[in-house]
Amino acid sequence: MLAGRKILLAIGGGIAAFKCLDLIRRLREQGAEVTPVLTRSAEEFVTPLSVSALSAQKVYRDLFNLNDEHEMGHIELSRAADLVVVAPATADLMAKMAGGHANDLVSTLLMATDKKVLIAPSMNVRMWEHAATQRNLKTLQDDGIVVVGPNEGDMACGEYGPGRMAEVPEIIDAISATLSDGPLKGHHALVTSGPTHEPIDPVRYIANRSSGGQGTAIADALIAKGAQVTFITGPASAERPKGCQIIEVTTAAEMLAATKAALPADVAIFAAAVADWHIKGDKSSKIKKTKGKTGPDLEFEENPDILKTVASMRNGRPSLVVGFAAETDNVISNGKAKRDRKGCDWIVINDVSPETGIMGGSENDVTLISDDDTEDWPRMSKRAVGERLAARIAEELNSKI
Ligand code: C5P
Repeated sequence: MLAGRKILLAIGGGIAAFKCLDLIRRLREQGAEVTPVLTRSAEEFVTPLSVSALSAQKVYRDLFNLNDEHEMGHIELSRAADLVVVAPATADLMAKMAGGHANDLVSTLLMATDKKVLIAPSMNVRMWEHAATQRNLKTLQDDGIVVVGPNEGDMACGEYGPGRMAEVPEIIDAISATLSDGPLKGHHALVTSGPTHEPIDPVRYIANRSSGGQGTAIADALIAKGAQVTFITGPASAERPKGCQIIEVTTAAEMLAATKAALPADVAIFAAAVADWHIKGDKSSKIKKTKGKTGPDLEFEENPDILKTVASMRNGRPSLVVGFAAETDNVISNGKAKRDRKGCDWIVINDVSPETGIMGGSENDVTLISDDDTEDWPRMSKRAVGERLAARIAEELNSKI
């Protein structure tokens, strides 16, 4: 799949650098040629010798090395590849990239390249969540840099949360998608998926039965067509898509904030089953049973409508906004009314009456409503719905060019 593709791999100084040794092997197994460049601090985690042995290439380390400069200048090095991959992309490397620094070989190559750049961030969870890193991330995404991961999980520093570098197969999927000549190459797609959880108190929450299966299938299909995907998911049971940026959220308010931060996008697909309400007030103490009362007095407040907010944006509205409608009665007419109410371009209606087994199941039965058309698709797997929808999206976006 990657036969003959040239990858310049910039290895940053983080504990996840060890995964790059496997990344090099797997890329070479697929036929790619990997030219490694190490930052000074990367050498604290992996040795130039092992990187060179695995890549069967010279390892570039120094901006001011006369021999290297004679063989291949740093400008040439930055342009000889089909793709530049930065893994692990540390907080410091991301900051340098966002600020346009060029004070060592890696940062200079990144400034000088005319090729697409893909980064796999990896850092402590607090560093990832720090306002500066999130600001830099946004800048890099706006600059067209493709981001894969980070994932959520246990970290080498003993903490838990987002910050783990994406796994090698995920990075390879993202590299393949970025290099692919699929019909969605060059397009940024945003997908919301899964349920949201709205806290009642520190231990209880309101949720729904969405598994996130349809959203994942759509994201996978878009990635396979070459799109750069940002996947914003609530606490869903479905596996996460591979080869894209994943943003984990809990509540509708967090999903809206993540969605706004991920824009601009060419297409936005709102497959999440967002809770309609959240509970008002302070939720810091556990609610106790009270004698003589049947239950607590909960005051509800409406959640922001993410789809409607994005569909009605004056500036920066994606050129295609797709909503979902899970209906149990008068499925088509309710779906059409929802499309008008939300202001989206297309609406994918699914009948979630309990007897259909669709909510949480592996199949879907959908009708796609666009401006002038009602397409009734036969019942098929959620994977197949994802592929068909991705194909329709590719047709639509390419017809607008
Ligand atoms: O209003 P309803 O929940 O039926 O609308 C479903 C569509 O709207 C889905 O595309 C869903 O992702 C989106 N939605 C949203 N924010 C909400 C509620 C729904 O984005 N608060």
